[in-house]
Amino acid sequence: MRVPVLAANWKMFKTNREALAYVREISTLARTVSGVEVVVAPPLTSLATAVEAARNTVIGIAAQNLHFEKQGAFTGEVSAAMVKEAGAGYAIIGHSERRRLFGETDQSVNRKLQAAIAANLGPIVCVGETLDEREANQTLAVLDRQVKDGLDGLTAEQVADLVIAYEPVWAIGTGKVATAAQAEEAHAHIRGRLRQWFGGDAADRCHIVYGGSVKPDNIAELIREPDVDGALVGGASLDVKGFSEIVLRSQGKA
Ligand code: 13P
Repeated sequence: MRVPVLAANWKMFKTNREALAYVREISTLARTVSGVEVVVAPPLTSLATAVEAARNTVIGIAAQNLHFEKQGAFTGEVSAAMVKEAGAGYAIIGHSERRRLFGETDQSVNRKLQAAIAANLGPIVCVGETLDEREANQTLAVLDRQVKDGLDGLTAEQVADLVIAYEPVWAIGTGKVATAAQAEEAHAHIRGRLRQWFGGDAADRCHIVYGGSVKPDNIAELIREPDVDGALVGGASLDVKGFSEIVLRSQGKA
C-alpha cells in the first residue's frame, strides 16, 4: 500500500526566520498524524535551517531544484550532492514553472533525475499539460512524452521509489482545481504506462501525487481516488495552519 505523500512547495516564498517557525510548527503537528508522509520544500536559503528544525521528526525536506552536473562554472546553480549534504532527502524536478520560465525540457529533467538518484535523493518529478494541450485533447499524449523521456534509462527499482507529481499547468495558482475524475484519469494513465514500460511492481509502488490549487476543502475528494497518492501543494501550503489541515484530511487512506 502506498502511504500518501503531502508535500509543501513554497516556491520563492519565506525567509529563513519564517521557515524556522513554520517547520517547528508542522513538526509538532506531524507527531500526532499517522499514515502520511509530510515533506516541505523551502527555498535553498532555508534548506539547512529547515533540515535542522525537522531533525528527529518525520518531516522530510526537499530542494525545489538542482543542476545535473556534479560541479562547474554554473553561476547560481547547486548540485544534487550539495543539497544532499545540506540534509535534503528529496528534490522537486521539472516543475512546470522551471520548464516554462527557465527553459527546462524533458531531456534536462531526465539528467536532473539521474543526478538526484545518484546522490541518493528522492525525486519528485513534475509532469502536466497546459490548457491549450488539454483543449486540443493532447493531455495523455503530453503525459506519455514527459514520462517516457523524463524517466528514460531508469530501472524499475528506481521508478518504484519515485514520486511523480501530476500538475496540470492550468490548475497551478489559478484556483481552478482538476476534478477528482480528471486527476484520476491522468494518474491511472500514467500508472498504466509505468506498468507497460517498467513492470507491475514499479507501477504499484511509485507514488503519483496531484498538484494544482489543492486546498483544505478539496484534498479529501482528490485523495479518495485510487491512483491519487498525495498532493504537491503550492499557495495553500504557505500558511502552516492550512497545510496542517490538508495533512489531517489526507489521513486514513493508507
Ligand atoms: P498551487 O497549489 O499554488 O496551485 O501550486 C501548485 C504547485 O505548483 C505545487 O508545486
